[in-house]
Amino acid sequence: MSETLEQQADTVMTRCDELARCSDDADGITRLFLSSAMQKAHKRVRGWMEAAELQTHVDDAGNVIGRTKTAIDRAVVLGSHLDSVPGGGRYDGVLGVLIALAVAEQLGDESLPFRLDVIGFSEEEGVRYRMPYLGSAARMGRFDPEWLDRTDAEDLSMREAMRRFGLDAEKIDEAAYASDEVIAYIEPHLEQGPMLENANRPLGVVSGIAGQTRIQLEFIGTAGHAGTTPMLGRSDALAMAAQLVTDVNSIGRQTKGLRATVGQLSVSPNAPNVIPQRVQMSLDVRHVDDLVRERALNDMLAAGRQIAKTAYGKFAVREQVSQTAVAMDDGLSDILTDAARDCGHEPLQLFSGAGHDAVVVAKKFPAAMLFLRHPGGVSHHPDERVLRDDVAAAIEVMCQLVRKLAAKHEPKQVGTQSQ
Ligand code: HGY
Ligand code: MN
Ligand code: MN
Repeated sequence: MSETLEQQADTVMTRCDELARCSDDADGITRLFLSSAMQKAHKRVRGWMEAAELQTHVDDAGNVIGRTKTAIDRAVVLGSHLDSVPGGGRYDGVLGVLIALAVAEQLGDESLPFRLDVIGFSEEEGVRYRMPYLGSAARMGRFDPEWLDRTDAEDLSMREAMRRFGLDAEKIDEAAYASDEVIAYIEPHLEQGPMLENANRPLGVVSGIAGQTRIQLEFIGTAGHAGTTPMLGRSDALAMAAQLVTDVNSIGRQTKGLRATVGQLSVSPNAPNVIPQRVQMSLDVRHVDDLVRERALNDMLAAGRQIAKTAYGKFAVREQVSQTAVAMDDGLSDILTDAARDCGHEPLQLFSGAGHDAVVVAKKFPAAMLFLRHPGGVSHHPDERVLRDDVAAAIEVMCQLVRKLAAKHEPKQVGTQSQ
């Protein structure tokens, strides 16, 4: 590969800009699971993979895979996710996929003792079907067929959305890696926070990923006339939900290291002159310590029950999805740290409050994450930024990591017979 690291970094940044245009929202970046925007992104990414001499395919969970042409059936997998949140940034997920592709372009003509898989996972954010990590779960053989019956905001089942995308939901199990197929998974990703910028470091190595619970809650009150119903004695579902949002924030502020967010709220009948009868709200709770997360969540649910009781209403948990905190693989993270030092960088060791596909992969194969400095630290937002020189550094470190893994996995030369 003749391009310099800086030229490769420029290409990665330009490609991130191109993929940002693969959006279902004219005013921002929205690329959800199995969307038409995702179809457009697949076309771009597969074109770049094929130009890099990779064999590409889309598995039946919608993941895009580009792999080096070799008969070796053990792989080092590099990548991240291609989906975005609504109105998201242009680097979350995509940057990791394109850095992985740059590594394959850089090392493509070096003979490696393993296959290189560059992967673009199909659904990490979990926005459309309120279930994160669907693509990586399928690659890990952990896709639950019950998920196929989940419906999105337009009441379209996952099964039907897969069919329309050209996938065969009945064959999802065939997407799974064999239990001895993956040597290592490394995910480059934007930090999505301020730590590396504050430490003035371009790169970080992730020690672990916080556990998270995503839950759908519901308050039921009594609809009524806004003008004739006395304030006392009302059972106002939105007033109940607002009280819980306040309680969630105060529990969040009082619990060190906790992150608690109500990101979605839907009110019905949602009319200005009707007392709200029903409110559905999301709750996202995270912490590096699972016990702390669970205790805080229980306190929030107790608060919800008490609020409903006081306001003659009902409170229910509609859906709950949890992931425990996950440690990255020590050995692989050490090799990643050494690779960074070989390239002249002392990476910051840090924990990730954001979830990543590495959470799912780490439960089956050795997984590590390389974070890139995030100027301003604002993510899930159009202001997401990354520095081109940090991208160049990440490509260089990832190439060095792959070379170190190659040296480690080089077949042992059988000693020549003594004469
Ligand atoms: O929500 C998250 O932590 C990640 O961006 N999916
Ligand atoms: Mn991400
Ligand atoms: Mn994200």
